[in-house]
Amino acid sequence: MKAWEIQSADGVDALTMAERPDPTPGPGQVHVKVHASALNYRDLMTVTDPEPRGIAYPRIPNSDGAGEIIALGDGVTNVAIGDRVAGCFFQRWSGGKITLDAMASALGGGLDGMMASDAILSAGGVVKIPDHLSYAEASTLPCAALTAWNGLVTQGGVQAGETVLIIGTGGVSIFALQFAILHGATPIVISSSDEKLARASAMGAAHIINYRETPDWDAKVLEVTDGRGVDHVVEVGGAGTLEKSLNAIAVTGRIAVIGVLAKGAANTQMINRKSVQLNGIYVGNNEMFNAMNRAIASHALKPVVDQVFDFEDARAAYHCMRDAGHFGKIVVSV
Ligand SMILES: NC(=O)c1ccc[n+]([C@@H]2O[C@H](COP(=O)([O-])OP(=O)(O)OC[C@H]3O[C@@H](n4cnc5c(N)ncnc54)[C@H](OP(=O)(O)O)[C@@H]3O)[C@@H](O)[C@H]2O)c1
Repeated sequence: MKAWEIQSADGVDALTMAERPDPTPGPGQVHVKVHASALNYRDLMTVTDPEPRGIAYPRIPNSDGAGEIIALGDGVTNVAIGDRVAGCFFQRWSGGKITLDAMASALGGGLDGMMASDAILSAGGVVKIPDHLSYAEASTLPCAALTAWNGLVTQGGVQAGETVLIIGTGGVSIFALQFAILHGATPIVISSSDEKLARASAMGAAHIINYRETPDWDAKVLEVTDGRGVDHVVEVGGAGTLEKSLNAIAVTGRIAVIGVLAKGAANTQMINRKSVQLNGIYVGNNEMFNAMNRAIASHALKPVVDQVFDFEDARAAYHCMRDAGHFGKIVVSV
């Protein structure tokens, strides 16, 4: 089998294509022929800065991938040869609350990931993908889509008629836009790019704000919500955007605390003054993944794939993510 490997802390250009022995599934495992692997910001960070993350070399990057099951280990009954599946970000978090053991089972982190021609996964660590999706589209679901779903739907409990503030137009954010619309909520999107905002508007964003041209975007959000603020924020910025998110949120609103993109420090006084609910989100479990897939299937929702790179050009995909010109997801076809 072929696999891209992180072999050092020297970054994207040091990623190395390796030949490994063809794998065989052990008891309770499945062999997935990988057809596509999607990138997340976290995967870029793992490649460029592996040591603080405790990455053992060589490590195959990327949590996300989709493919076909081609062999089963002993005792596997939940899936069959020929099933179209995606790997679960956490190999050991089927349901309930997250545990330390689940957190140690992240693909492309504690375990080898999906930027490879083949993957041996736990039979409990795959989910069947919706029939209407290509492998490239389905490869975007395990991290970005599930994080948006968990933040906005499972923990956020978004309702029709509520307002949702979405920060940026990357992978998590565009899924959040789609799920907000799917639930009948009113999305407000902020981005650094007018072109990306026009695309978000065409998808159904009710209000769009360029956060570079309007650095006080929190005031603008209050203006377009008649001073009330939004019911939900999908917070991918982190410390550098949280204070403005707290200004922009309604009393008793909910913030899905997801990302770490923006540096800064937040005055957190509004958390208690507005009785804000902050939900720390770490991707999601298999139960959430299956619920999300049912919604995606019943609404024929299509993930937004910005670019697909060839397997041999995987390094270019990480450079593309670092350049942050993408809208939605970047995928590598395997
Ligand atoms: N907690 C979890 O389980 C979890 C799961 C997935 C992702 N994450 C985190 O969520 C974040 C987004 O991940 P992703 O994979 O969706 O990334 P991505 O596809 O690279 O999207 C990043 C986008 O965020 C926007 N952005 C960047 N800096 C910003 C800033 N200072 N202020 C406002 N917006 C900014 C930009 O949108 P525009 O170009 O439109 O301005 C950028 O394109 C990352 O921090 C990632 O680590 C966490």
